[in-house]
Amino acid sequence: MRPELIHLTAGGVSVLLDLRGGQLPTIAHWGESLGAITPMEADAIALTDVRPVAPSSPDEPMRVAVVPEQRTGWTGRPGLSGSRDGQAWSPWFRVTDVQTGVDAVEGLATLAAGGAVRVVARDDTAELQLELAIELSDAGVLRASATLVNLGPTYRLDELSLAFPVPARARETLDFAGRWAKERTPQRGTLPVGTHLREGRRGRTGADAATMLIVGEPGFGFARGEVWGVHVGFSGNHQHYAERLAGGEQVIGGGELLLPGELVLHTGDSYRTPWIFGVYGGGLDDQAQRLHRHLRARPQHPRRPRPVTLNVWEAVYFDHDFRKLAALADRAAAVGVERYVLDDGWFRHRRDARAGLGDWYVDEEIWPAGLTPLIDHVRSLGMEFGLWFEPEMVNPDSDLARAHPEWIMQTGGRLPVEARHQQVLNLGIPEAYRYVRDRMVDLLSSNEIAYIKWDHNRDLVDAGTAPSGAPGVHDQTEAAYRLMAELKERFPGLEIESCSSGGARVDLGVIEHTDRVWVSDCNDPLERQEMMRWTQQLLPPELLGAHIASEYSHTTHRTHDLGFRAASALFGHLGVEWDLTTARETELRQLAEWIAFHRENRALLHGGELVRMDPMDPTLWVSGVVATDRSRALYAFAYVGRSDAAPLGRVTLRGLDDDTLYRVVPVALGDPSGGRPVPPWFDAGGADTPTGIELTGRTLRTVGVQAPLSFPDRVWLFQVDAAAPRG
Ligand code: GLA
Repeated sequence: MRPELIHLTAGGVSVLLDLRGGQLPTIAHWGESLGAITPMEADAIALTDVRPVAPSSPDEPMRVAVVPEQRTGWTGRPGLSGSRDGQAWSPWFRVTDVQTGVDAVEGLATLAAGGAVRVVARDDTAELQLELAIELSDAGVLRASATLVNLGPTYRLDELSLAFPVPARARETLDFAGRWAKERTPQRGTLPVGTHLREGRRGRTGADAATMLIVGEPGFGFARGEVWGVHVGFSGNHQHYAERLAGGEQVIGGGELLLPGELVLHTGDSYRTPWIFGVYGGGLDDQAQRLHRHLRARPQHPRRPRPVTLNVWEAVYFDHDFRKLAALADRAAAVGVERYVLDDGWFRHRRDARAGLGDWYVDEEIWPAGLTPLIDHVRSLGMEFGLWFEPEMVNPDSDLARAHPEWIMQTGGRLPVEARHQQVLNLGIPEAYRYVRDRMVDLLSSNEIAYIKWDHNRDLVDAGTAPSGAPGVHDQTEAAYRLMAELKERFPGLEIESCSSGGARVDLGVIEHTDRVWVSDCNDPLERQEMMRWTQQLLPPELLGAHIASEYSHTTHRTHDLGFRAASALFGHLGVEWDLTTARETELRQLAEWIAFHRENRALLHGGELVRMDPMDPTLWVSGVVATDRSRALYAFAYVGRSDAAPLGRVTLRGLDDDTLYRVVPVALGDPSGGRPVPPWFDAGGADTPTGIELTGRTLRTVGVQAPLSFPDRVWLFQVDAAAPRG
């Protein structure tokens, strides 16, 4: 018997799908786990979801399916938009098959961890078939995708989005904006009647991408209020939205944003949406932790310790010189770096940003003996070697563009406006794809390259395929994913970083094929405090490239001491991006200490749970990472401004086990106090070096400890270790 109700339950979350009446599934509940419910209870819960018929509205209660249909009376955004010459634009899908992998009991199918549902529905009049995949991972992350199959004559698809309902109490929104060198800045709002729509039309994820569109109970924070978030796992054009109707119905949703005429389905053709993720949380930390657990459970999630990386970009830019680069490698190895990345500038004609993209041959003038001498030198120092590419781009001033001008994405018989002196190479053209792939395969086969920094430095505008000029962003995005997958298959163990003018390609689509993202071209630690804080809403810290750069920040012209720079990068995938040949001896010694501390604590930093305290003062951001067995933790008190009060008072620390006694010790790295008196609890043992204090997890959570005094732009770190379980 086909189930009428399906209860997916895992990781503290429940999703109750209602398929009664052969209609597309609606979600009767998505949120906190319902526990083990009986068929009768499931029935009753589904009934509580049915709204009374309001005056001047359709006579049947309206139900919003995961692909909302207008024919039910829904006047919000329809899930499917498209037509066959003015026909088949408002379908009525009737379910023909449901697969859950388990038997239904009295109409209810219960799916525990890793539950997956497949639903097939058809509209014979519209000659369309819709296939839905709805899954709840072990961690409790919901993801869904829809496939449209055209059973009739040619059909033009304009949009296929999915929507998840959210309760009426979720009236506040949080999503992200940003720009180059200031990615993922949070923006808050209320959810009035209407649509809060975030469109990404850059042909890449974008520095200003919504990243995650969250709605929650008013006043929600890291530890308070329920939140529901949606994320579109795709790096091309995309949209996220939150919508509230006059009848009080609310959904969050999203999908790919298709350009006019981009997807024309001929008979038998199909289109599959990206995965649309839905992440519930009892507060933003719970939501982020759920997503981190989900990502960490993937088979391809990087499991070996994240190698401390040196990237040479801010040290040398385009000025490649073997002796200088070798000296940098020596210094890097001496301070504990484990991976060395040669950035832009190594290939033919690439003396600056104006030329050479596409000419993927090692430049014979700069590198007469190829890259081998540098790679050998790096490897002899015990480090891996990584290399920068920008496979989807081409400079008009390149041999490639001169030979194949038709491979440049374009429309209207003209070239798009240049950006960073470059155009987009159309990987949707099989010959262009093969050219880039073969060049990369050749370079990876003839050199010991363990890592690619994969860049993507411009938006895709007017991105059509010559000669017709038909839109090509969808194909381009798929081709980039395919190329990444192909290279990974050919070169097992190869790691890829997703970079895009800094952090403009950070999403769950690209992360299926890559091992870390470059968060931002801005290495200013004060800016990075904010970017790390919020990028972690989507990705765990081990996937976030975080570099200790020079004292003087190249993008903001601020200066910061080493302690603040290091402590701000410490929690991510640590790296160095600084001309170490000009660093002072004391700086190198301190840098080595910070790197050693990171390496010693890497398992905790990259395997623990993120906690962020709701600020008791806007100038103090307290966050931490707690071991999953609650035996250890590391907290950071980041002083990101000057408060009107000093000292600031007691700070409470969440995430520990209430009944365990912990020792809290300030970490003796850097000089966060600047010589000012420290709080008495630092020296409760009376020794010369601070030995800290013993308190239970409960006391730390409810009472807390005095925050030390600090100058702005400093971080105090505290190591917390279980002293003894209580009683
Ligand atoms: C982008 C990246 C930088 C660097 C340059 C090289 O801007 O974000 O890290 O690789 O390209 O041109």
